[in-house]
Amino acid sequence: MVAVREPARKARLAALANHQKHIEQAPLFLVWLADLDRLAAVARAEGSEAEALDYLDLLLVGITDAALAAQNAMAAAESLGLGTVYIGSIRNNIEAVAAELGLPPRVLSVTGLSVGYPDPAVTTDIKPRLAPSVVLHEETLST
Ligand SMILES: Cc1cc2nc3c(=O)[nH]c(=O)nc-3n(C[C@H](O)[C@H](O)[C@H](O)COP(=O)(O)O)c2cc1C
Repeated sequence: MVAVREPARKARLAALANHQKHIEQAPLFLVWLADLDRLAAVARAEGSEAEALDYLDLLLVGITDAALAAQNAMAAAESLGLGTVYIGSIRNNIEAVAAELGLPPRVLSVTGLSVGYPDPAVTTDIKPRLAPSVVLHEETLST
């Protein structure tokens, strides 16, 4: 992930991500990446070919890994009393974000995560969730 703290860079990223003010307000903005070139780079360094990596599955695994890491970081941060907000709109202008962060080809932003200190004066609530009967299916996918 790339950890962005510089106010001017956070402001530019906020502008690219639908002008969300919490990107600028929070002291830390983490951008979680899927690096589709890392394994191939290792193979190249070893003088090997890496055609086996050129499948959609690499993209799925890379995005899944980044999302899992971000979710674990969110749980850890919140256990320490910090507040976090996922920023999916970091993908609204994905090429400009890549340029801003200096990402090489085949490295893409999966999600952003604003990390800061919750304002104790603001009460928050958890949005209603879909009922288990909607999201849990036993044995096969029931309708
Ligand atoms: C994949 C994903 C992308 C999100 N993108 C944004 C975003 O761009 N901006 C934002 O303010 N919140 C974003 N959120 C956060 C949600 O708006 C919401 O705050 C979060 O899911 C917590 O909801 P809860 O309080 O009901 O648990 C995103 C959440 C997820 C899971």
